[in-house]
Amino acid sequence: MNITSAEFVVSNSRADMCPDTNLPEYAFIGRSNVGKSSLINMLTGRKSLAMTSATPGKTMLINHFLINKEWHLVDLPGYGYAKRGKKAMQQLQNIIEYYILERKQLTCLFVLIDSRLTPQKIDLEFIEWLGEHGIPFGIIFTKADKNKAGELKKNVGTFLAKLAEQWEELPPHFITSSEKRIGRAEFLDYIESINQSL
Ligand code: GTP
Ligand code: MG
Repeated sequence: MNITSAEFVVSNSRADMCPDTNLPEYAFIGRSNVGKSSLINMLTGRKSLAMTSATPGKTMLINHFLINKEWHLVDLPGYGYAKRGKKAMQQLQNIIEYYILERKQLTCLFVLIDSRLTPQKIDLEFIEWLGEHGIPFGIIFTKADKNKAGELKKNVGTFLAKLAEQWEELPPHFITSSEKRIGRAEFLDYIESINQSL
């Protein structure tokens, strides 16, 4: 898929205030700082379309981006950033959960996983929660450029093996680097194939 246009539409804190269209929607979720916003910029080829930061907790709202005037890409706040305090963290959690459970247009949710890490409890529990609620999801491994040779494959393999303990069929998964623009075509072609099947 070629990206011919990418525009910011709206930010808000509630699923029922998101754009009132029937366009298919794909959202990025994952731990704070995993690279959700950076990936949106890499995929769209627009350097600062989504706001990024080296400090975790940058994205605080649900952000809709209209791609090719045909589908929405959604940047969500990260989970698991404890420094903000319990109340604020719970508030973000509510925003995220309400969006995921209520947003009818959500066609596939992509869980971003830092490719440098061993499987993290918080990510595995989140994926389990998606399963309990029957939410269609895929996995995107991020920051592939930050791995030493051999490590990337090992980490991805370990994570998928962990998922295979719970899931009969593995979800679609992608390996990406926003820094080195890895995985762009594979991901966008996948979205195109889903859009065409709808
Ligand atoms: P929150 O909005 O806080 O939840 O974070 P986020 O998941 O949107 O992360 P963001 O895209 O803001 O990136 C966090 C940091 O990781 C930034 O300093 C990025 O430059 C860096 N980063 C993101 N993707 C990559 C990547 O593929 N490679 C490298 N080397 N750094 C990356
Ligand atoms: Mg962000």
